[in-house]
Amino acid sequence: MHSAKKAAAILVLLILFIDQVHHCSAFIRRRRRRRCPVVNCSVTSWSHWSSCSASTCGQQGSQSRSRSITTHPSCGGTTCPSNLQESRLCYGSTLENCNLSSWSEWSACPAIPCGSSAMQTSTRHRIITEKCGGWCTSTFRKTRMCLRPPVNCKLSSWSEWSTCNGTVCTAGRGTQFSFRNKTMKEACGGTCTSTFLKTRNCTKSITRKAVECQLSLWSEWGDCKRTSCQLTGIQTSTRHKTVKEECPGTCKYSLHQSKLCTQSQLPCFNGGMYKPNITGCVCIQGYSGLCCENSPQGLY
Ligand SMILES: *[C@@H]1O[C@H](CO)[C@@H](O)[C@H](O)[C@H]1NC(C)=O
Ligand SMILES: *[C@@H]1O[C@H](CO)[C@@H](O)[C@H](O)[C@H]1NC(C)=O
Ligand SMILES: *[C@@H]1O[C@H](CO)[C@@H](O)[C@H](O)[C@H]1NC(C)=O
Ligand SMILES: *[C@@H]1O[C@H](CO)[C@@H](O)[C@H](O)[C@H]1NC(C)=O
Ligand SMILES: *[C@@H]1O[C@H](CO)[C@@H](O)[C@H](O)[C@H]1NC(C)=O
Ligand SMILES: *[C@@H]1O[C@H](CO)[C@@H](O)[C@H](O)[C@H]1NC(C)=O
Repeated sequence: MHSAKKAAAILVLLILFIDQVHHCSAFIRRRRRRRCPVVNCSVTSWSHWSSCSASTCGQQGSQSRSRSITTHPSCGGTTCPSNLQESRLCYGSTLENCNLSSWSEWSACPAIPCGSSAMQTSTRHRIITEKCGGWCTSTFRKTRMCLRPPVNCKLSSWSEWSTCNGTVCTAGRGTQFSFRNKTMKEACGGTCTSTFLKTRNCTKSITRKAVECQLSLWSEWGDCKRTSCQLTGIQTSTRHKTVKEECPGTCKYSLHQSKLCTQSQLPCFNGGMYKPNITGCVCIQGYSGLCCENSPQGLY
């Protein structure tokens, strides 16, 4: 019986012990749960945006920024954000300076009196416009004084060579001509050539044919001309060549013709005057004869 009591006592102790242990662990557990700190996720602030992938001014590209987790959440803290990387469109913004043409030729000096001065200008312009705040000059025009320079004459170009002509009527050497003109006069001491005609030898391959002369019409008959004291005299008529005979050509025609003519009155020579009611002329002093044909020395 004694051992039974002992056993019962041990059992009671055991139960008490187990209860105590249980009690204690619950207590510990309760204490531990109360001490677990809530930790929210924490991330760094965003980095700076990276430089734009496009560097040319105005060209589209992209850039990104990122952040990273510094503390992971625990004990029910807020979770971490899912976007740790961001990107966006951007435009290249590298400065571009303008690019300029070279200076133009100086403008012609204005038409001013020889020896006086005037302004002439030269300009340049943008070939490429500056971008993104790039630099450009503000000087697009410059001027300088000019003196009106000597101006030489201007000449036309030489004319075509004339057809080969010459003095020969047989095949052989001939001459050709070419002309040019002064189209603008020289000024302010400018110079000019004096050569406006040039010639060159040429060879005529064609023998020119003989050319007959050609004649004008006969002229009107002239006055009835008398050389002695007679009622009859001679009248003449002429014609001339309109085309000369050449190579060698002939001209077997007369250029003069004449015929007799009769007048009703005698001629008066040596200043004598015809008087109707007398036969013959009234002579000035010293002359005699019907027609005053006798000179003071007795000869006509
Ligand atoms: C965790 O985040 C919540 C909700 O934003 C907030 O109420 C709490 O105060 C934060 N806890 C700590 C320790 O920052
Ligand atoms: C400007 O133009 C010249 C000639 O076209 C070229 O050589 C030069 O590289 C250009 N400069 C710039 C800045 O574009
Ligand atoms: C040759 O031609 C030129 C121009 O056509 C002319 O002036 C000149 O008289 C001619 N000479 C001869 C010999 O025919
Ligand atoms: C020269 O001027 C004259 C008259 O103005 C013209 O007929 C001729 O064609 C000109 N000659 C040339 C070679 O220009
Ligand atoms: C043309 O021929 C003549 C005679 O042979 C010569 O004297 C002259 O120099 C020649 N002229 C030219 C322009 O060749
Ligand atoms: C000349 O004679 C005519 C008649 O034959 C006559 O009428 C006339 O008066 C005369 N004249 C002179 C100047 O004599």
